[in-house]
Amino acid sequence: MTFKRTTVTSALPYANGPVHIGHLAGVYVPADIYVRYLRLKKREVLFIGGSDEHGVPVTIRARKEGISVQQVVDRYHELIRRSFEEFGISFDIYSRTTSETHHKLASDFFRKLYDEGKFVEQVTEQFYDEQTGHFLTDRNIRGECPRCHAPEAYGDQCEKCGATLSPEELINPRNAETGNPLVKRATKHWYLPLDRDQEWLEKWILQDHKEWRSNVYGQCKSWLDGGLKPRAVTRDLDWGIPVPVEGAEGKVLYVWFDAPIGYISNTKELCDRNPGLGPWEKWWKDPETRLVHFIGKDNIVFHCIVFPAMLKAHGEYILPDNVPANEFLNLEGNKISTSKNYAVWLNEYLEEMPGRQDELRYVLTANAPETKDNDFTWHDYQARCNNELVAVYGNFVNRALQLTQKYYEGRVPACGALTDFDRETIAEFTSVKERLESLLEAFKFREAQKEAMNLARIGNKYLADSEPWKVIKTDPERVKTVINISLQITANLAIAFEPFLPFSSKRLREMIAMNDFSWEQIGRMDLMSEGTQLPKPELLFTKVEDSDIEFQTNKLEETLKANAAAEWKAPEVKPVIPFEDFEKLDIRVGLVKTCEKVKKSKKLLKFTLDDGSGKDRTILSGIAGWYEPEDLVGKRVLFIANLAPRQMMGETSEGMILSAVNYDGNLSVTTTLGDVKGGSQVG
Ligand code: MF3
Ligand code: ZN
Repeated sequence: MTFKRTTVTSALPYANGPVHIGHLAGVYVPADIYVRYLRLKKREVLFIGGSDEHGVPVTIRARKEGISVQQVVDRYHELIRRSFEEFGISFDIYSRTTSETHHKLASDFFRKLYDEGKFVEQVTEQFYDEQTGHFLTDRNIRGECPRCHAPEAYGDQCEKCGATLSPEELINPRNAETGNPLVKRATKHWYLPLDRDQEWLEKWILQDHKEWRSNVYGQCKSWLDGGLKPRAVTRDLDWGIPVPVEGAEGKVLYVWFDAPIGYISNTKELCDRNPGLGPWEKWWKDPETRLVHFIGKDNIVFHCIVFPAMLKAHGEYILPDNVPANEFLNLEGNKISTSKNYAVWLNEYLEEMPGRQDELRYVLTANAPETKDNDFTWHDYQARCNNELVAVYGNFVNRALQLTQKYYEGRVPACGALTDFDRETIAEFTSVKERLESLLEAFKFREAQKEAMNLARIGNKYLADSEPWKVIKTDPERVKTVINISLQITANLAIAFEPFLPFSSKRLREMIAMNDFSWEQIGRMDLMSEGTQLPKPELLFTKVEDSDIEFQTNKLEETLKANAAAEWKAPEVKPVIPFEDFEKLDIRVGLVKTCEKVKKSKKLLKFTLDDGSGKDRTILSGIAGWYEPEDLVGKRVLFIANLAPRQMMGETSEGMILSAVNYDGNLSVTTTLGDVKGGSQVG
């Protein structure tokens, strides 16, 4: 099948918070690389984006921030749109699912399926809060876990024992937010009977799309093997697109029904505004159009099964040709989380690391979670920027341009006769171009970028081996050729890197006075004409400083600490003991006479205490990580006086010094406030 044009979509992010590096790495950078590549190939392509402004996540955010849902989506749509723009994500349109065009199109889409009897109606009993007048989603229901009897289990899961639950199983289900008790109430919904699509989906995906990424194919297969079930496409909610059916008051389209239609609506909005693009239907209904969805792995079932089933039910639409979904990106070994504020937010990166968009794009692609989850660390970021962008690409370009200034006052010198080495270098270049292309066509962006970097390595090696700075003294004619070829390579790099690093490519094109360019020029050695005057070069990349990295890693650690503190719950009280048991314990005050580190132990401090007996008492305590021993001398601590002595690191410890364990495991010695004699009893 050959296609005339490509419609590229990228998942519409929920407008419930800013976007972070996980979004960029998983969806938007790869989509942008692909689209920029197609444009450079002069292929016909549209890149469709937008915000997903319906669904429960935005309503939760509104309640959290104490503002209206409209205010939430307005705020975050704008913030997200700007972040994408600043990172060079080159959407042809970035619109929103609250647009009028979308409401009408999604509503009409539903109505057509409804009129043609493509849905099944079903009345079910759902939990309802009579005081607020709302039906509740599983996550918004809490109650006692039927398995472990934890009091705060969710309607879909108990976080204590990990059990998967349905809200019916909870003992005394309540509204998680208000605490109101819930009742069951009948409600009617419309379902997409996916069971009827099982057969054609199996053929279409499992047989006809074996080329899909294995993570995508595998997820589809396991859904299909499990047998598809009807899925409700409406919800009892007051935020969303009203169900366009009489008697459906208080119901809206399920967010996963309307959001993917947003791709179509946004295309329509774009084409209506730009007649040159042709009617929007051309991009969605013509079998010669290739549809590609870029998404994260949590969206696979919706894009590979549900949305295609909707499109097929509608009947006029093309189906996706590929769905290159990425796995997840972790951050310094932890899950990125919007609700826990654990992320590198794009809007903050733009402020804290100004002008370094390409650096982040580069690292996120170099480390893209294409086949498995991956980890972003700031140290890796720094290493890749400094050792690859600065030391390889930047270094080569800078040397080529500086030498042009130095020897030829910035004018491109003429190319003389080629040596074998010149020819080998050029041939290597051409073969890398082919590899680069086949990788890009196969959505292997990580490998593709590596190949682009290889071109820079070839350049670096060419300059290093040709040694123009030496040869200039013996054979100045030869140097002209070397510099000419180096400049041709530089021009090639500006094109090859354009999909990956659009900002630096643009700067580089300015530095070499290159106006027109296209992908097909890669491999050519006549891109820079003799005599062209080049402006004074600037550095293409600059080093990332240690202080920047420390700032970023500290910030993440602070967030982790704050989260741990917020999530901490006091441990459960131990079983009750009779008073006599308590009386057996002899807790006393001890005056610290000396305190020192125990050799060969990171944890232990050795105390001698005045315990009132007239003899020194030795106690070892595992608090070395939190105190300087000398700071404790003269303090009054509490200790257990009648604990059986224990041997530790070759010393006898006669008791135990009391300290409190904080939420983060830090220890804090308990001391007395008053001026109490050593040996005084506590109780
Ligand atoms: N908002 C969804 C998410 O962030 C993605 C929606 S993709 C679309 O997971 F196809 F529905 F638009
Ligand atoms: Zn439980």
